[in-house]
Amino acid sequence: MQAYDLQMQKLRDTKQETKAIIDLLHISRDQNVLELGTGTGEFAIEAARHCATLHAVDVSPAMLDHARQKAKLQGISNIRFHHAGFLTYEHQDEPLDVVVSQLAMHHLPDFWKLVALRRIFEMLKKGGRFYLMDIVYSFEPGNYEDFFYNWIENVGQATGEEMAQDTAMAIQKEFQTFDWVIEGLLKRAGFHVEKAEYYEGFIAVYLCTCD
Ligand SMILES: C[S@@+](CC[C@H](N)C(=O)[O-])C[C@H]1O[C@@H](n2cnc3c(N)ncnc32)[C@H](O)[C@@H]1O
Repeated sequence: MQAYDLQMQKLRDTKQETKAIIDLLHISRDQNVLELGTGTGEFAIEAARHCATLHAVDVSPAMLDHARQKAKLQGISNIRFHHAGFLTYEHQDEPLDVVVSQLAMHHLPDFWKLVALRRIFEMLKKGGRFYLMDIVYSFEPGNYEDFFYNWIENVGQATGEEMAQDTAMAIQKEFQTFDWVIEGLLKRAGFHVEKAEYYEGFIAVYLCTCD
């Protein structure tokens, strides 16, 4: 798990990303936040300093244990960790102001993405906000071989062979889909898409509201 954090640091500025999300969503001390697919807890731990309660959900007990340890070491006590997933988490606490999910939804095929998005919509307060960052394809698929080759090459150069192989495996086996599919699914789930941004042909960021 520590290795995951170290690899991510070579590809992302997680601290800067987290700060930008907290500012964008105006997360404040009276708000309740849910993170789905929390992983090693980088976002959850920082966001917990700014909100009332942070609910951190992941299907991986190992990720949750690691995140729990990190939170404890940093004296953070307002995170509730839940061993559950997009399709099983049942929110039974104060209504949610904000839901965040980063680099996790591509683990679900499109049908189940819509089920997950509808569940998120139902969990949020009216006027609540949903921030989704994920691997989403916005490149022209006519040249997909070159695109994937360059992507894997770049990951390898930044982080090493292991992560390059993981990326190749993810391209083959996981459920990354098109920008227009995700935008359609978000709207079908009831969200208003306030912002949709695409980076490098494979990263997307959406800011959505429940009107
Ligand atoms: C690539 S990691 C991203 C972790 C973190 N959000 C980040 O941005 O670094 C994907 C995470 O999603 C979790 N995950 C996979 N399938 C999931 C599901 N169905 N529901 C919730 N979390 C899931 C994995 O266990 C893993 O912790």
